[in-house]
Amino acid sequence: MALLFFSFCWFIAFATATFNVTTLPFDEGYNPLFGDGNLVRSPDGHSVRLLLDVYTGSGFISSSMYRHGFFSAKIKLPSDYTAGIVVAFYTSNGDVFEKSHDELDIEFLGNIEGKPWRFQTNMYGNGSTNRGREERYSLWFDPSKEFHRYSILWTPNNIIFYVDEVPIREVVRNDKMGGDYPSKPMSLYATIWDASSWATNGGKNKVNYEYAPFTSDFKDLVLEGCPTGPIQKFPNTTTCAETDAWLESRDYAIMTSKSRSAMRRFRQRYMYYSYCYDTVRYPITPPECVIDPTEKQRFRDSGRLRFGGSHRKQMSNARRKRKSRPTSNVFTEQNDM
Ligand SMILES: *[C@@H]1O[C@H](CO)[C@@H](O)[C@H](O)[C@H]1NC(C)=O
Ligand SMILES: *[C@@H]1O[C@H](CO)[C@@H](O)[C@H](O)[C@H]1NC(C)=O
Ligand SMILES: *[C@@H]1O[C@H](CO)[C@@H](O)[C@H](O)[C@H]1NC(C)=O
Repeated sequence: MALLFFSFCWFIAFATATFNVTTLPFDEGYNPLFGDGNLVRSPDGHSVRLLLDVYTGSGFISSSMYRHGFFSAKIKLPSDYTAGIVVAFYTSNGDVFEKSHDELDIEFLGNIEGKPWRFQTNMYGNGSTNRGREERYSLWFDPSKEFHRYSILWTPNNIIFYVDEVPIREVVRNDKMGGDYPSKPMSLYATIWDASSWATNGGKNKVNYEYAPFTSDFKDLVLEGCPTGPIQKFPNTTTCAETDAWLESRDYAIMTSKSRSAMRRFRQRYMYYSYCYDTVRYPITPPECVIDPTEKQRFRDSGRLRFGGSHRKQMSNARRKRKSRPTSNVFTEQNDM
């Protein structure tokens, strides 16, 4: 049994070689976003620590917006009691397009002591916040023990979320999605914040500040893609065509049969919710969903994955809201386990 598990992990972890990426010092690609005192750069400028204490969370944002790109960082999450905490690594343009924003999320959801971190991925296009496209997963390692690379690839044709070099989710653009496929320039954000109202067991387990400060470390930051000015709402698409072609030729953009089977294995073993199989929420399967018979079988009778249906409470202070995360989250589980 132990041997089986080990060989499975080996398969996942070594599915492909390390990505060929150029890492960026913090000051060359990013700016503090909020909670300045809780954002601590390393002396060499190549890593940054985000803290959450009883006063504030913290976050950073890319200096440019990007029209398509590869957004990536090695991240180490807080350990021990982390209920109610969210560490988010995401792209968004919610500050520029308030009503029609695009967003791609990786959100880590803290847990009570002894229970592992979970995480979710999500996508919004052109303000489609009423159509949650969440998937939730566990991991094959403890993300608070060491750094692992988490990445979002966004090209004109597809989106791939990665954990290390393992693709865990791919969204292939489909004409039927219309504006739901992100199309406008986005910034990269990384934040840590108090999401007591929804993050852990549907809000039952809240942040316990006796364990504060909570620290999340980021290093080996990568931003590859087509930068546009932060206020340039309608970039000249011609100028991004070359970068798009380059992006699509990169190792992280190429799905081999090996990486596809690593993705399938990850999803079979670690995915515990996908909107694609949630026929209560979506009686008509969303157009981008590729139904895998094995996944479908697994989720068919799954009663433990329920939605409360209530919107996550909006943070009362608009500025705080802007600074943490610009959208509401419709995903509220009755019971995470
Ligand atoms: C890595 O990518 C760079 C371009 O950014 C390229 O010049 C180099 O040859 C690549 N290295 C390998 C080992 O593929
Ligand atoms: C995005 O939404 C706006 C309304 O908010 C609409 O006018 C526009 O056509 C949409 N764009 C796409 C590409 O669907
Ligand atoms: C876009 O950029 C290209 C190359 O820089 C230029 O030739 C073209 O005229 C620009 N288009 C618009 C609409 O600005």
